[in-house]
Amino acid sequence: MSKLLINQYLGDLSRLKQVSGTSRESVVREAFKDLLKGYARSHDLVFVPEFEIESPAKERRYVDGALLHALRLPFGYWEAKDEKDDLDAEIALKFKRGYPKDNIIFDDSTQVVLIQNGIEVTRCRVEDTDSLQKLLGLFFGYQRPEIAEFRKAVEQFTTDLPAVIEALRAMIESAQKTNAAFSKAAKTFLLHAQKTINPSLTEEDVREILIQHILTDEIFDEVFPGQPFHKDNNVARELHKLEETFFTGNVKFQTLKGLEVYYRAIRSAAARIGSHHEKQTFLKTVYENFYKVYNPKAADRLGVVYTPNEIVRFMIESADWLCETHFRRNLIDRDVEILDPAVGTGTFITELIEHFRGQPAKLKHKYLEELHANEVSILPYYVANLNIEATYAAITGEYEEFPGLCLVDTLDNTAGLGRKTGDQVADLFGMGDENVERIKRQNRRKISVIIGNPPYNANQLNENDNNKNREYPEIDRRIKDSYIKASTAQKTKLYDMYSRFFRWASDRLHDDGVLAFITNRSFLDARTFDGFRKIVAQEFAEIRVVDLGGDVRANPKLSGTTHNVFGIQTGVAISFLVKKRGSRGARIFYARRPEMETAEEKLASLAGTSLKFLTMSEVMPDGAGHWLNLTQNDFETLLPLATKATKSGKRGSNAIFRTFSLGVSTNRDSWVSAHTEGETLDRMAYFIEAFEASREGGGIPTTSIKWSRNLKRRFDQGRQEPFDETRLTKWLYRPFTVRPIYDSDLFIDERGAASRMFPSGQANSAICFTVGGRLDFNAFATSMSASLTVLSLDANQCLPRRIFGGEGDVENITDWALKQFREHYGAKGKQPQPITKDAIFHYVYAALHDPVYREKYAQNLKREFPRIPLYGNTAGDFWRWAGWGEKLMALHLGFETVEPWPLTRTDVPDEKARKAGQAPKPALKADKIGCRIVLDSETTLVGVPAEAWTYVLGNRSALEWVLDQHKESQPKDPTIRARFNTYRFADHKERVVDLLARVTRVSVETQAIVDAMAAEPR
Ligand SMILES: C[S@@+](CC[C@H](N)C(=O)[O-])C[C@H]1O[C@@H](n2cnc3c(N)ncnc32)[C@H](O)[C@@H]1O
Repeated sequence: MSKLLINQYLGDLSRLKQVSGTSRESVVREAFKDLLKGYARSHDLVFVPEFEIESPAKERRYVDGALLHALRLPFGYWEAKDEKDDLDAEIALKFKRGYPKDNIIFDDSTQVVLIQNGIEVTRCRVEDTDSLQKLLGLFFGYQRPEIAEFRKAVEQFTTDLPAVIEALRAMIESAQKTNAAFSKAAKTFLLHAQKTINPSLTEEDVREILIQHILTDEIFDEVFPGQPFHKDNNVARELHKLEETFFTGNVKFQTLKGLEVYYRAIRSAAARIGSHHEKQTFLKTVYENFYKVYNPKAADRLGVVYTPNEIVRFMIESADWLCETHFRRNLIDRDVEILDPAVGTGTFITELIEHFRGQPAKLKHKYLEELHANEVSILPYYVANLNIEATYAAITGEYEEFPGLCLVDTLDNTAGLGRKTGDQVADLFGMGDENVERIKRQNRRKISVIIGNPPYNANQLNENDNNKNREYPEIDRRIKDSYIKASTAQKTKLYDMYSRFFRWASDRLHDDGVLAFITNRSFLDARTFDGFRKIVAQEFAEIRVVDLGGDVRANPKLSGTTHNVFGIQTGVAISFLVKKRGSRGARIFYARRPEMETAEEKLASLAGTSLKFLTMSEVMPDGAGHWLNLTQNDFETLLPLATKATKSGKRGSNAIFRTFSLGVSTNRDSWVSAHTEGETLDRMAYFIEAFEASREGGGIPTTSIKWSRNLKRRFDQGRQEPFDETRLTKWLYRPFTVRPIYDSDLFIDERGAASRMFPSGQANSAICFTVGGRLDFNAFATSMSASLTVLSLDANQCLPRRIFGGEGDVENITDWALKQFREHYGAKGKQPQPITKDAIFHYVYAALHDPVYREKYAQNLKREFPRIPLYGNTAGDFWRWAGWGEKLMALHLGFETVEPWPLTRTDVPDEKARKAGQAPKPALKADKIGCRIVLDSETTLVGVPAEAWTYVLGNRSALEWVLDQHKESQPKDPTIRARFNTYRFADHKERVVDLLARVTRVSVETQAIVDAMAAEPR
């Protein structure tokens, strides 16, 4: 690997020299940079170009590149020189200017020198690949003592922390009962905390705050030794007092003894960090690491992640420019009050202080009066306090307490909302506590700029996680009355944290002001955010959005770590919303970074620039509140396939189908449906027993089974359902994958209209289509109930041919539809047979497979239910399409019985496995180029026609779905993994061989029909 990188480097280097016609450092150094980056990736290091360091004489220096350890400590440096320079003289000069000597590479594109701990370790010519490899090996093998120590300490810490936390909890609990001084002080603290942080806080929460305080106090003191930043903080003081009532001297020493290794490592690492900037990053990383060990769920809920500096600077510069353009004021100007409502580690405030660096008098006023920040959690609050006060002290040379930092739940603090010009100040609480005083002070202010990175944990995925966001009655009511009221979406998920913060900040902002947030990007195009888009466009005068993309769920080709600026799965956007007195409606501007750009490239594109220099396109929203991917076509004129109005029987509303229903949402697929009937029954027998045992166990749900909100509600209602083998039936779980399912009103979360569509003993079929817009539009057919997510990512709606259980009428295609089709095709041409509802059913299925239709209406189909075009004018046209639909349906419903495609099977015994008495090793791999499928270490199927792979449903071809669904993977559910991990491919192999041959035919013939459709003139 490393040789490969070196050869690549030499190739790049000669190409650069050749193409540019120069050997100048600024041109050719790119090649060495790439070499280092390549090495860095395999060593878990991050390469940062133009890295700022502070020389021993406290001057700022920029090294061409630094490699950072996960702890954000520099691991090594690189400095490039020109081939014409005298390299040794340059090295001496750099060291004289205070460049680091511990682990640094110098290169001039002809030779490379490695210096470690001030001594030249080795040097070589670049084309001497063996020596260069050795040199790089030494460079990357370097062990910075404090990093090695820290790594060890973190490991130790992760193991020891739970025990220490338990001990502390017990100690606090006993102090609560037996120590009057403690319980009095704790009560007072709780009262204060309830007023400020969250009214529903309890004694347990105070205990957790105190534990976090105790565990981190020492760390924070160590990073800035001898400074008052931490000890003098008003909240820290209160917690110290509380701590001192029970936790001092030997008790403290003995309890924290286990963590001493960790503290020692931190102390020694901290002591070695010279620059203020490095200290800040160091602190952030310690904090992030600590929190993730201490309480990973809270870390997720609160969004414990700091904002990269490139983004913070970009947002500050841009907000400054917007203030100047719209209000002729700058951020530094008097009365421009700035608030970060989710301050985290304080990055925005510290960067603002940096931003104001050149104007000391104004900076002082701003710092003491007009900068505000909120944080709900004690640890980031401490870190923010340290960072902000230390930054101010570093810049001005004097320590001043930062009075603008409040420990408060921003979303609960609604007393300052709607504060407009001329408002009178309402008193908040009657308490004299300093933190409360700070909040009151903030609430009195007219805030002109709100800037930050609010959390965006939207919904917990699993009820067992117990990690749900709490409710915020006032903000949620505001959301309901605005964003939700203006929405036409049936289901809205607008109570997630980031829309709450948008709502809060929109209401908190003064008449004239700027709101700058970096958040989840889904508000830009999610259907459920249509009301949000309409309302912000009304409430603001100008909106500018920089879309940083990175939505891994929408584009599986992306990787969170590579493409997303936060390394997460959710797409990200930076929004600037300008509020202006008297404005009516916003002009909206939009820019997006290329989809496949890496996070590093995205950050580089933001570094050193601002909105002022960005080219943006103006968005003209359509009436439905769409901003992006606007469509201008005739979609509206096509026949509606199904509508909510028709389903609810609204007079005057028409559609082809009367009713439709989402697929079955079990919320516990792996429990109610396994590969075989026996496995399914075993799992459900266990599940039901555990469910009942929870009732006997005092109503405390056991975590060994998968709960959901519905199931908990049903449990609380006392609902029961004895285990019953006859409940077994079948469902379409994934494309061309039918599985057994334990059908149950109690244990399946949402059955949709399953019993009206597919009651037992009644034959029926349904056309299903994807909704949700993550995947390209797709349709499939089923003759049994289907899962909610047959294509895995998006949900699917189902349109049954017939519907049962009503009053005798089983017809689901409307007379209106029949009339439309008959009128359109009837009068012209010969009519060999009258159009029937069955034929319309087939026609619809064909139209939904038409590649021209899918492409032309792709955007509409991502957002709305399909509409159906009437192709051609003659009966012949109709029947051609209906015929295609009928054939497609026969293939897709009858996939288990169609004639198998003649694939050739080759079996070569896997002697090793056989000798060991094992089954052949499953592979289930598609080799598209080799036209074959490798099933396992013995069997290959050869002769898969190339077109078979082109019949794609969502992210996979039909054949790949079959392969995917038969892999041996670790069950995600821990109980199933431990008790029911019984699936073995070998037990199903012969059936899979048969299925693959049949699905090959389905694919080839489907593709032939689809190709014929594509060739059809229209
Ligand atoms: C994404 S982080 C902010 C990152 C910050 N810009 C930085 O670079 O460190 C979000 C922060 O908001 C805090 N937070 C979450 N909900 C909050 C609330 N309701 N009120 C105040 N702060 C909150 C979290 O504790 C977390 O520290």
